[in-house]
This record gives sequence, C-alpha cells and structure tokens, in this order.
Amino acid sequence: MKILLDEKQIRKGRPIGLPYIGSKKKIAKKLIEIIKQNFGTDKTVYDLFGGGGAITLECKLQGLDVVYNDIDPIPGLMIQKILSEDREYLKTVICSREEFFQIRDKEDKTIDDHLKLLINSFANNNKGYLYSKERSDFKYKLAKEIIENHDCFGGYKQTDTFKKAVYENIKITQLQQLQQLEQLECFVKLKNTKVIPKIEIHNKDYKEFSDIKGSIIYLDPPYKNTSKVYNHNNLNHEEFFDWCKDMGKENIVLISEYDMPKDFECIFEFTKARSTLQCGTHNKKYEKLYMIK
Ligand SMILES: C[S@@+](CC[C@H](N)C(=O)[O-])C[C@H]1O[C@@H](n2cnc3c(N)ncnc32)[C@H](O)[C@@H]1O
Repeated sequence: MKILLDEKQIRKGRPIGLPYIGSKKKIAKKLIEIIKQNFGTDKTVYDLFGGGGAITLECKLQGLDVVYNDIDPIPGLMIQKILSEDREYLKTVICSREEFFQIRDKEDKTIDDHLKLLINSFANNNKGYLYSKERSDFKYKLAKEIIENHDCFGGYKQTDTFKKAVYENIKITQLQQLQQLEQLECFVKLKNTKVIPKIEIHNKDYKEFSDIKGSIIYLDPPYKNTSKVYNHNNLNHEEFFDWCKDMGKENIVLISEYDMPKDFECIFEFTKARSTLQCGTHNKKYEKLYMIK
C-alpha cells in the first residue's frame, strides 16, 4: 500500500504522554497524521498496547475517537492522575535517592508512588535512581531549590541558581528531574484547555478486543527481545501475528515493529529526515509501521 503524507499538516507543538519505556512520543504526531490522511477521521482508533498514552493522547488532541488499553493497569491510572492534577502537583513528584529506594521496596504502592518511580528512575525503568550515587544529593537539592526560587522546569538552565551551581561544580550539565517535569507540564495543561475529555481506559489482554469491526487497530507490543522491561512480558508473538491477520479482515490494523513475518508489509518508516521515506533497505533501525499484505 502506498502511504501519502503531507507533512505540512502535522500538528505543531510538543508531543504528550508519560515518559515511558518504548513510548511512541517521537512519532505520535506523524502517525496520527498518516491515519487521518490515509484512513480518514471517522473510525474509532483502538490503542491496545497503550503504555504511556502517546498515541491515545495525540488522537484525542486531534479529535479522533480513541480507546486506550494496556494489560497493566498502572500506566492508565498514572495518565488519569496527571490529567486530574495541576502544575503544583508535579512539584511533589520528584524525590531524593533515599525516598526512591524506600518506595521501590514498598509492598503496596500508591499511584503517586508509581509516578515517583517512573519520573525519578534512570531511563524510566522504575528500578534505578536517575542520578549516580555521588551526585544524587546535590542534583536533587538543586532541582528543589530552582523550583522554590524560580518556579520553573523548562528554563532552569537560565536561572541564577543553576548558573551559580555550574560555576561552582562544572560537572553538573543538566537536571534530568526538571526535564521530566517539563515533559509533564504540557500534559497537565491539557486539563485546563478541556481538549481532553474523559478517556476510555481498559486493562485487558489485547485478545479481548476480538469483536471489533470497522475500526483502526493500532498495536505497539513489547518487542521480542525486551523481556523484563514491562510488568507483562509474556506475549506470544506467533499468536499475536495470527490475531493481527484475523482482525485485518474487518479492520485497518497498523503495527509498530522493527521486523514482521512475510505476510506483513512495512508501509512507512519514521526516519529522522524531514522528507520521510517509504520503506527502504538500509541498516539503520528506524521505527516502522506495518500492515497485513
Ligand atoms: C511498547 S509498550 C507501548 C508504548 C506506548 N505505545 C507508548 O507510546 O507509551 C508495550 C505495552 O504493552 C503492554 N502489554 C504487554 N502485553 C500485553 C497484552 N497481552 N495485552 C495488552 N497490553 C500488553 C505492556 O504493559 C506495555 O505497556
């Protein structure tokens, strides 16, 4: 299938979503534009491996009807939490190294706890603290001080407090905690603009959506080699490919993968270049979008 994309139509502005492992934030705006230009705006989009919500939220922003699902209930609850809170709440989400490990080892975690683990962990893996042991204290305190004195997340490098710290300690080049909050800042703003009404959220196995007809099904499963990255990793890929083929009989099925069996074709490749290629043969690993042949 030949995919058309007029790049001028792509929404300007930041992508929205949780900082989540495997997040499709980088391609979400382009992907939704591909859907709109090639498959129309009248069908419901089912985002069945929804994760941090980048695709669902972009659909919502662009006025498409969308259903979010993830077998793990936690990301959906975190999305709802962020959408129900304001900017002041975000300031409570960064935590010290000690607090991080206390939370990580707690039996029963609240949604605030899960958000803290996500935001303060290295590569958003919920396991290791964002900063090395030697710099943790200094960087956490500096982030807190900047929030208190300047009330800013994004522009922290311009603050006197940061400049002074860099002058005194040249090893500090960035404060990732504030960068995480900056990402969430545009997310909480959505609540006030009323762009995002209620999001339909489910926590089921993707196969429970086998009755869908006449819709767009977007599938972003864990990749084959990403064991232990998510709470749910036991996806049987052969079974998944068969399910896709079955669902493709009555729906438009779009799959994000790096590699798919022969009965699927790559319809788009998200290269970084401005003019995006149809699928080519080169060695670089770009995000790809597949459909059934
Ligand atoms: C690559 S991530 C999705 C990322 C998402 N597109 C985003 O932009 O943040 C894959 C997700 O699939 C979920 N998952 C794993 N097995 C599943 C299943 N059988 N049914 C539904 N979701 C599943 C995981 O919990 C994980 O959140």
